[in-house]
Amino acid sequence: MKKVVLAYSGGLDTSVAIKWLKDRGYEVVAYMADVGQEKTTTAAIHRAKVAGASKVVVKDLRKRFITDYIWPALKANAVYEGRYTLATALSRPLIAAEQVAVAHAEKATAVAHGCTGKGNDQVRFEVTVQALDGSLEIIAPVREWEFKSREEEITYALRHRIPIDVTKKSPFSIDKNIWGVSVEAGVLEDPNVEPPLESFQWTRGAEKGNLKERVVEINFEKGVPVGLNGKKKEALALINELNDLGAPYGIGRMDMIENRLVGIKSRETYEAPAATILLQAHKDLESLVLDRELLHYKEGISQKYAELVYYGLWFTPLREALDAFIERTQKKVTGVVRVKLRKYSAHVVGRKSPYSLYKESLATYSAKDKFDQRLAKGFIDLWALPYRK
Ligand code: ARG
Repeated sequence: MKKVVLAYSGGLDTSVAIKWLKDRGYEVVAYMADVGQEKTTTAAIHRAKVAGASKVVVKDLRKRFITDYIWPALKANAVYEGRYTLATALSRPLIAAEQVAVAHAEKATAVAHGCTGKGNDQVRFEVTVQALDGSLEIIAPVREWEFKSREEEITYALRHRIPIDVTKKSPFSIDKNIWGVSVEAGVLEDPNVEPPLESFQWTRGAEKGNLKERVVEINFEKGVPVGLNGKKKEALALINELNDLGAPYGIGRMDMIENRLVGIKSRETYEAPAATILLQAHKDLESLVLDRELLHYKEGISQKYAELVYYGLWFTPLREALDAFIERTQKKVTGVVRVKLRKYSAHVVGRKSPYSLYKESLATYSAKDKFDQRLAKGFIDLWALPYRK
């Protein structure tokens, strides 16, 4: 019997996929990756077994997600099309890489995922698998199977006694992890319809809230956040705390039309409180400690980096090379940034660093001025020389 490792979420599609793969002659190992999606795993494990999985493997990937994916993306200031902080996109190469490892451990010859044929995620999964082990067979049941609607899938599940929870199902497609929530489908498919209150997962109720402004202080060491309000914080706790702090303010809500790799435009809303706060703070600290040329050059790198992540090109020589470059730029990104939280926005109100390149004696308009203003004339004359008529 051929063995397949299925990336299993516990939802309807992948539960049905277990049975579907079994019917096609595969022994199915259901693999669940914990990237902080807050799903109850016990019910999902039970469901996988009833659907026919020979084994369920659960991997807690949260720490690795932060150190190997989120922190590099933060150091890169990676944001796609100006807004999307890439929560879903960043998790895919990690989930797929671990899936390949599970396939090797289980001596499986195939891997499967529950992505549709219209999205970016199928690309991210499959490019990763191919980059890490080109000999593995890749199966995408949702892209191939006969079901034309959710109802048909539900009928199939009921017929095969797969315990699905139809009542709990939200009208939206939701993907969650510690770096953010992505929500699409349902009424959001009309780009002109305002996202209904119930479409928000973490920031629900923010519109009604009347919270007092507050300031949070973030400590960075070499580009990595290491503390909050003067106290050392372990990475996972730090991100969770910032999500909890920022969500009631509605910080990191985004409603955007984006360009998918497969060529279509789609509408998605995102909620990413911690990511939004940390990206702002990190970028701000860089503006204090990096010289102008490096800072400007790095802006171009950020955009390229975000594209690579979005396009599923994580396990590529270019991403590795960019990471090496970016790492080199982070040597002095150490210091403290104060961020003010208020309804729907987080903004920096102060920053300091032992490596600050800001010199008050040069910037000041007071008597302390050390800047020799007479030099400016010569500088400008030479600067203008090529253009002087
Ligand atoms: N558009 C985002 C991306 O391609 C998120 C995709 C998953 N979204 C979802 N709601 N299931 O990265």
